[in-house]
Parts: sequence; structure tokens; C-alpha cells
Amino acid sequence: MSKSISEKATSSEEDEKDPRPADSNPKTTPPLTKNWRGQLRVESVIIETPNVKTIRLVPASGERYLPFTYVPGQFLNVAFWIGGGRMNRSYSISSSPHEREYLDLTVRREPRGAVSRHIVDLLRKDDLIEAGGPVGMFTFTGEEADSIVLISGGVGITPMMSISRYLTEQSWPGDIYFIYACRTPEDYIFSKEIAELEKRNPKLHVAIAMSRAEEGEWKGHRGRITKEWLAETVPDLTSRRIHICGPIPMMDGTKALLDELDVPSEQVKTEAFGTPKPSPAAAGTTAKPSTEASGPLVTFSKNNKSAKSHPGQTVLEIAEDLGVEIQFSCRVGTCGICKVKMTAGEVDQEVQDALDDDDKADGIILACQAKPTTEVTVEA
Ligand SMILES: Cc1cc2nc3c(=O)[nH]c(=O)nc-3n(C[C@H](O)[C@H](O)[C@H](O)COP(=O)(O)OP(=O)(O)OC[C@H]3O[C@@H](n4cnc5c(N)ncnc54)[C@H](O)[C@@H]3O)c2cc1C
Ligand code: FES
Repeated sequence: MSKSISEKATSSEEDEKDPRPADSNPKTTPPLTKNWRGQLRVESVIIETPNVKTIRLVPASGERYLPFTYVPGQFLNVAFWIGGGRMNRSYSISSSPHEREYLDLTVRREPRGAVSRHIVDLLRKDDLIEAGGPVGMFTFTGEEADSIVLISGGVGITPMMSISRYLTEQSWPGDIYFIYACRTPEDYIFSKEIAELEKRNPKLHVAIAMSRAEEGEWKGHRGRITKEWLAETVPDLTSRRIHICGPIPMMDGTKALLDELDVPSEQVKTEAFGTPKPSPAAAGTTAKPSTEASGPLVTFSKNNKSAKSHPGQTVLEIAEDLGVEIQFSCRVGTCGICKVKMTAGEVDQEVQDALDDDDKADGIILACQAKPTTEVTVEA
């Protein structure tokens, strides 16, 4: 069985220590920490829209400053016990890393979602949550390019908010094009603060597209993001770095528009929040593939179980078929919760965003991405 967040929870020796001198200014010193695990306390719950809330988290230890630092655009992995089962999910940090005393997670309530409903409906001040991180490479600090286009939809605004807050706080000299798509003015998350940031930061250019706003209800663009609107809104679009985050159809649509506008794909960075298909547990189905399992044999050494793989099946899916527990969250290769050690064999992994060089050198794979190409043994 892979380690859960709590099992991995921190011995202080394992944590990367912050090497900054004790008197360094926590508001301005650059971010340094990774691989933190522990508990955070809910300091307050802020209502953003009818179905979105921000959970402000502070150290559970009572210490003044957060026990880790992060880069704008990163996320935390959180775990909850719900209905007797442990559930892992990832949430982008919406606050700016210059705030060292707290961090914000902004969560949209999914009508049938297990964890988002728990967070939005039930979490209260002083509740403790188990968290790990910071994680993620969908980041921007101002050093990577001299301007940035942030395109988001729905709750995909969260990493863009962290980046915009941070760059404004740093008086970053580059242009920030903040493009956001939502349905109606009621669904516009952080609307007041974005208006304030716009006043403070002359380099922040905000453009909002509302797909279902009534005439008279919204003065800006009504309808979806279009090629023409994008080209009008962002001068010299093809020369700029672009980040996209939102629901998968919105991201796919936007990537296609950028392609038509001849934006080089290497300038476009994306982060998907949704899983392409609900996990079996979420969907309440135990349906098995109908094809014969004729692929390479996969052995889970700790559980002493083996099975041949179906074509295209991942190590995580084979483990689920066999009742071998491997923790997971995103199932798209970004969160890193499904990391397991492969002691023999070879796999193809389409996305490896959550693996760093040390992981790769240690034979760590992402079970949600790994498709066996030879007989494989994993420590699970
Ligand atoms: C890197 C990353 C960052 C993220 N950042 C954020 C963030 O900042 N804010 C945020 O709100 N989310 C974020 N997410 C998404 C978040 O991790 C969760 O996926 C989301 O909150 C839904 O989790 P859930 O447990 O509520 O839904 P789940 O129970 O996992 O369900 C997933 C989806 O399936 C639907 N569903 C569930 N059961 C059924 C069923 N029986 N039939 C049909 N449909 C069903 C649900 O409505 C939901 O839409 C992020 C994800 C990633 C990977
Ligand atoms: S479940 Fe997130 S990387 Fe595999």
C-alpha cells in the first residue's frame, strides 16, 4: 500500500529546512520549501460566490508563519476521511506567497463532489486539515518571461489570482493580461479584488468574458472566448507566454484558438483541474474492460498480487481491479499522490509533471500515468 499523506507526515529531519537567517523578512524572502506534510488550521471561511468559498489556513502549531513557502501557481494536496474512506484532492493556492502568515484555498462546490461539498458545506473555523505540498510546475514568478497572459475559466482562476497578487506586490514591470471566462456576474470569483488590483497595477489588463450575462448586466464581452476577441484583447499574442487553467472543454477550446492564431505551443502552459473521467469510486461503478487481459504482467510486491494488463490500462487501474490500494487524486499526472516505486520493468508515462529528477533516478513512477510496456513490479 502506498503511503498516505498522514503516514508520510513529517519527521522534522525529513523536511527541507528553510536556510534563511532567523531575522530575514518573511514577506520578501523568496520561496524555498518543498515536500512539507502536516496539519493546517482553518482560520476563516470567506464566501466568494454562491458556490465558491475561500478557506484561509494558518499553521496548526500556533506559530506565526507558515511552515513552508511556495511559488505562485502551486497547489496543495489535502486529505479528508469522508464516509469511512480517505479521499485526496488537490487545490491551487489562491493567495500570494508574500503572505507568510496564511494561505488561501478557493474551492467550488461540485453538486455531486465528495470532497468539495465537504469543504464548502462543512468546514468551519478551527477545523484541522491534513495537507501536503506545495506541489506543481504551473508557476510564474516574473523571471520566466517579460510578460504573461493568464487565461482562466470558472474556478481555474485560483492559480492566476496567486500569480497576479504576487506580481502586483512585487511591482513586477511586465504586462499581465488577465483573461477570465465565467457565466454571469454572480459567478465572477474575486471580482472586487481584481478591480482593486487593476487600480493599483497599471500593468494589469483585465478582460472578462461572460457566457450567460444578460444584456445590460455586463458591459464587457458577452459570449465565449473567441479568436477575434483574444487577438483584440492581447496585442502581440504570438510573442507572449500564456497560462491556461479551467474546465477541460474550455482549455481544449482555448488551446485550439491559440493554435489557429499561430501561437507556438511551447509558449502555452496548462493545468487541468478536472479528471477526464470520474474515478470509479466517484462514479460508483466497478465496470471492468470487456477486452481480454493479454498485456504485460504487473506485480504488486507488498500485496503479493499480480495481473496481466488490458491494452492501455495504467498501473493504478490494474491496482484498483486487484483491490490493491494506491492513493490518488488528479489522475492526470500533476499531483504526485499516486507515486510508487517500480523495482522492475518499464512503463510509458504520458504526463510526468509530478516527478522530479530525484524521483526518476529512484525509479518512482506515477501509477495513474504508467502503462506497462514490459513485465513490471511495483512496491504497492
Ligand atoms: C492541480 C489541481 C488543482 C486544483 N485546484 C482547484 C482549486 O483551486 N479549486 C477547486 O475548486 N478545485 C480544484 N481542483 C479540483 C479538485 O481537486 C477536485 O477535483 C474538485 O474539488 C472535485 O472534487 P470532489 O471530491 O468534490 O468531486 P469528486 O467526488 O471527485 O467528483 C468529480 C466530478 O464528478 C462528478 N461526480 C461525482 N460523482 C458522480 C456521479 N455518481 N455521477 C456523475 N458525476 C459524478 C462531480 O460532480 C464532480 O464534478 C484542482 C485539481 C487539480 C488536479
Ligand atoms: S493521481 Fe495525481 S499524479 Fe497520479
